[in-house]
Amino acid sequence: MSDPRLTREIARRRTFAIISHPDAGKTTLTEKLLLYSGVLQTAGLVKNRKGKLATSDWMGMEQARGISITSSAMQFQYRDHVINVLDTPGHEDFSEDTFRTLTAADSAIMVLDAGKGVEAQTRKLFEVCRLRGIPILTFVNKLDLNGRDPLDLMTEVEEALGIQASAINWPIGSGRDFRGVVDRRTNELQLFEKTAAGGSRRSELERIPMDSPLADERLGAELAANVRDELELLDVAGNELDMDRFLAGEVTPTFFGSALTNFGLEPFFDAFVELAPSPSGRLVDSDDGTEVELGAEEPFSAFIFKIQANMDRRHRDCVSFMRICSGSYTPDMQVNHGRLGKKVRLARPQSIVAKERHTIDEAFAGDIVGLVGKDLYQIGDTISLNGGFKHKPLPLFQPEIFARIAPKVISDRKRFDKGMKNLIAEGAVQQVWPETGPKDAMIGAVGALQFESLQYRLEDEYGVETRLTPLPYECSAWINANEDTFKAPINSLQARDSRGRLVILFKSELDKRLAAHQNPNHQLLNIA
Ligand code: G4P
Repeated sequence: MSDPRLTREIARRRTFAIISHPDAGKTTLTEKLLLYSGVLQTAGLVKNRKGKLATSDWMGMEQARGISITSSAMQFQYRDHVINVLDTPGHEDFSEDTFRTLTAADSAIMVLDAGKGVEAQTRKLFEVCRLRGIPILTFVNKLDLNGRDPLDLMTEVEEALGIQASAINWPIGSGRDFRGVVDRRTNELQLFEKTAAGGSRRSELERIPMDSPLADERLGAELAANVRDELELLDVAGNELDMDRFLAGEVTPTFFGSALTNFGLEPFFDAFVELAPSPSGRLVDSDDGTEVELGAEEPFSAFIFKIQANMDRRHRDCVSFMRICSGSYTPDMQVNHGRLGKKVRLARPQSIVAKERHTIDEAFAGDIVGLVGKDLYQIGDTISLNGGFKHKPLPLFQPEIFARIAPKVISDRKRFDKGMKNLIAEGAVQQVWPETGPKDAMIGAVGALQFESLQYRLEDEYGVETRLTPLPYECSAWINANEDTFKAPINSLQARDSRGRLVILFKSELDKRLAAHQNPNHQLLNIA
């Protein structure tokens, strides 16, 4: 029998990640979501002028750089909804953590800079969302600057990402003349007033029916006529928002606005909570070898998607972040630990907002909870009340940089090995073992910052200084099947990953494309 409270709690949850290229406005948008939800009274606290800290920055190195390296989640309420925002690092040198975080999301907001359109990092993150088939809403930001034509931008989204864009609102003017948006669903003109510098306070919003004379009065007859023409054109030539196709990740509802000046934000946030899905069933592998769908209201289950050691220096502890997929957590619950095959007690679950920790009394499907304790969890572990199944293993993402790493001082070897073992279990970097040449493990990462972070943590947490020797490979791919018949380019290196799968390391993208061309019967996988 279903529990009405559980049903209600799950239905009001929205767990999502914001994906964007650095500088598109992700931090600003997140901050404004906090402003509009009432968590912040004034914006400008999360990220201040030039390089000040985000509240989610806590690692020493992050503080030194003023960027987020590892991802964490924030939970707060927006209207009647419980929002779980998964923080995806915004620096160019992003890491696998960023990708893995997306496995914990039920939807994503893609932020584009109206002046730049679809950029490299957005593309990569989008790929992962598409692989999971999660719905994506698009927010085209910085309309207060002279940007590109909105129709052009939508075409670019469609061509570059292969997803249809459906405009939910339409901008009125741009740059200095950006006045607001028209909500196409209600044909309502939403005009905004500039507020304090940097939009630190909520903007006044005036709502007028687009077909009323007041719209002409506010916009001027000429602009009003232009807008009506554009809207008519969209009605004829634009994409409809089909909810099923949106939920399947085939069409992206698209919004225009300015996170900095708050124009278009409130209607966007309202539409987001309305459109984005609440946690729903996930496919799991049951112990008898079949794949079954586990509903969100089934008894408690969760998987670990991120592990972070040393979050609190005073305790030198380790926090494993779990995404609850079904049911609810209650204090001191005894659960099955799938990999270890034993029962564990979820003694001290914590909700973590930056450095602030709160021990929590309850949590529901969709929530992200930090479990404190050492050596109990690995990335991808399933914990569940009843056992009998495992959540899908987390994917690995194609490393694009490789190196060998060794302690500078030979006598540090033992501590080095221990540190590496722990950090690999956390998923800090990947390891691959070459099939030819020296057999020592090589390390691989999707961004250089992962190596820097690894070295920093080995020194900081394990007292080992290390030497890193970069290797000349720029990309890699897994081969799905028929390993024996794969013809690898001369320059490439064949290796095995931690799960024993064949992975090919290429010296350049060109080599990789060539290999794909020469092996038409093989699939070269970027995510495995
Ligand atoms: P990110 O997290 O995606 O990297 O982007 P972030 O929000 O930090 O924004 C990057 C820069 O773009 C910031 O300027 C921010 O103020 C600006 N920005 C964000 N949204 C808008 C917008 O709607 N309009 C305009 N005009 N600018 C916007 P900055 O000078 O690099 O940093 P700061 O000194 O303002 O913090």
